Amino acid sequence: MINVLFVCLGNICRSPSAESIFSAQVKAAGLDDRISCDSAGTYGYHQGEPADRRMQKHARRRGYSLDSISREFDPSTDFSFFDYIIGMDDDNIHALKTADHAGKYAHKIFRMTDFTKTDVYQSVPDPYYGGDQGFEIVLDILEDACEGLLARIKHELSGTASGR
Ligand code: 4NP
Repeated sequence: MINVLFVCLGNICRSPSAESIFSAQVKAAGLDDRISCDSAGTYGYHQGEPADRRMQKHARRRGYSLDSISREFDPSTDFSFFDYIIGMDDDNIHALKTADHAGKYAHKIFRMTDFTKTDVYQSVPDPYYGGDQGFEIVLDILEDACEGLLARIKHELSGTASGR
């Protein structure tokens, strides 16, 4: 099993969307028994809350249901469990690297835009204080990046004997 964790600040907008989009793509590819994903925030302020209503509305229009409940990233368990720990922007990556004091998990830390086909965005911009367009941009980038991530993991799985 390949375990993927999407990380943003509050775990109510970007990372729950990434989780839902990626899950849909993994399921469509028939790989849900090989790839699993979750999401978390570097900041626990919204812990226990469902996804932001605005983000839910925009995601629903594209057929994605955001069902996860916000939780804070837990360095004591998440670094060892997950194979890919994917931050949305510079702040998220900085927080993850800071939590990984010794650099032991540096090879697991990625940036979501590493996986996009286009080079237009270098991060997934925080939509929280903006308008409708910000939420649409988040979904555009995430749909593209999730495809690239899935292609990379498929390649990885095809290189292992059983993939498990
Ligand atoms: P997210 O968005 O990191 O994509 O979940 C945000 C959620 C909450 C806040 C900022 C960004 N906030 O400042 O509370």
